[in-house]
Amino acid sequence: MHKIVIVSLLLSLFLCGKLNAQEARIKIDTDRRIGQIDNNIYGNFVEHLGRCVYGGIFDPASSKSDQDGLRTDVLDAIRGLSVSLTRYPGGNFVSNYHWLDGVGPERTPRMELAWSHLETNEFGTNEFVAFARKVGTEPYFAVNLGTGSIVEAQSWVEYCNVKEGPYYAELRRKHGYPEPHNIKYWGLGNEMDGDWQMGQLSAEDYVKKAREASKLMRSTSPDIKLIASGSSNYSGGADPYHWNATILAGLKGYIDYIALHMYVGNYRDNYYDFLATPLQMDERTQIVKGMILREKSYRPVYIAWDEYNVWYRARSGDDVVGTRALEERYNLEDALVITGFLNCFVRNADIVKMANMAQLVNVIAPIFTEGDDLFLQTIYYPLQMFSNNMKGESLDVFVDSPVYNTSPRFSLGDNEQSTYLKDVPYLDVTAALDGDQLVVCVLNRHKDNAISAEVILQQGAFTGPVEIYEINGPNIKSENDFGKTNVQTVRKNDLKKPGTSFTYPFPAHSVTMFKGKIK
Ligand code: AHR
Repeated sequence: MHKIVIVSLLLSLFLCGKLNAQEARIKIDTDRRIGQIDNNIYGNFVEHLGRCVYGGIFDPASSKSDQDGLRTDVLDAIRGLSVSLTRYPGGNFVSNYHWLDGVGPERTPRMELAWSHLETNEFGTNEFVAFARKVGTEPYFAVNLGTGSIVEAQSWVEYCNVKEGPYYAELRRKHGYPEPHNIKYWGLGNEMDGDWQMGQLSAEDYVKKAREASKLMRSTSPDIKLIASGSSNYSGGADPYHWNATILAGLKGYIDYIALHMYVGNYRDNYYDFLATPLQMDERTQIVKGMILREKSYRPVYIAWDEYNVWYRARSGDDVVGTRALEERYNLEDALVITGFLNCFVRNADIVKMANMAQLVNVIAPIFTEGDDLFLQTIYYPLQMFSNNMKGESLDVFVDSPVYNTSPRFSLGDNEQSTYLKDVPYLDVTAALDGDQLVVCVLNRHKDNAISAEVILQQGAFTGPVEIYEINGPNIKSENDFGKTNVQTVRKNDLKKPGTSFTYPFPAHSVTMFKGKIK
């Protein structure tokens, strides 16, 4: 009788999550390698939209700005993210952008049709390149294949990449830039499958236009890498699989990446459904990988998760137009979803070779300014943690974790087809080996309970202490604000001598990163 009482007491404590019994296992085998993690998965995106450029990175009136009008505090925050490459100037903006308006001494103001504002063109190609060089990010330009012509795309490549001789190369020199900018990455339009896109095309028409543009662009600058617009439209009438299959077949031999876009939101305020959204990204990655393999292209094609983020609050009405467009404020659960996306890129390191968070400053962004002030949003921290640590080769980790199921008609957002995800693991784990340094990232999706896991090295052992970093906050809705950092990365006590295995209680709603040398 006495024994039964004790056993049932222990059981109820386990169920309430008060005891950290060993509930999960994580096995790391350094021989099981998925592929090299491309540093370009830590990219970002700057669009002429809201206060991303004007009032974000470029603010000549601010006391914080340098002689080029660039906000020095913003530049420092960007440097903290080690942003490998940055896509510019859009987004939807690019489909009515004429790059010549934004170079030289005379700038032509234009009506901006994607987000309804006046575009002064004060900031353009050369200003962006100066910004990129200052923060150490590789510039990536998207050309206008909506209202723009293939000749206009070619002339921009000539302006940027040809040293001297032809008209546009000489024009750049006349503008004060004797050396070419050598822009390596060029996007062939933006979201050309979307009915919101100016100059939207059918998949077949896009293939024709993108193929001809790529011929002209590559003849001008042979070493460039081209990124085709893959699926972004998952609304009822769209067929993302037809779009991707058509462009992969029609553009093989011409392109180096297929760009996919994905935004998610907690529309129904269901934490567990929302936390499962990165599994949809994993699924789409696998599907597009299969389509790429089927084409057997002699020129390798990789996936670029060219725009990804949480974006659902600032989605309609005044929140999407004008100077305060898309000013999403993020909380802890958003940061956990971003970690799920980053884990997806690392886990699919063999095929995902580029990813760009959308966007960098103020507009659905990790960095937020107001006047001369700045704060780092919750989503800043996972990106910073990964871009500065998760390098080398991605390892195929074995995870035995408790699981949950999503709601039966779970949907990513407004127009997304609904689905049902079974057996979503509470612990989402990735690992990378860089020389003798092992980094392991563990996302605990559980809202209320710590989950205790045994971490086992299948070969070798840690040669010294293991550093531990944790992203967490008081609760899943915690946000940061000016002068208030509720969610951030905290260094915990090192594991002194972990050897070949250790048990660790991963706290509820947290991200934990281990970093140590192994032999
Ligand atoms: O990042 C915001 C917008 O989202 C981009 O302009 C567009 O490409 C996407 O629809």
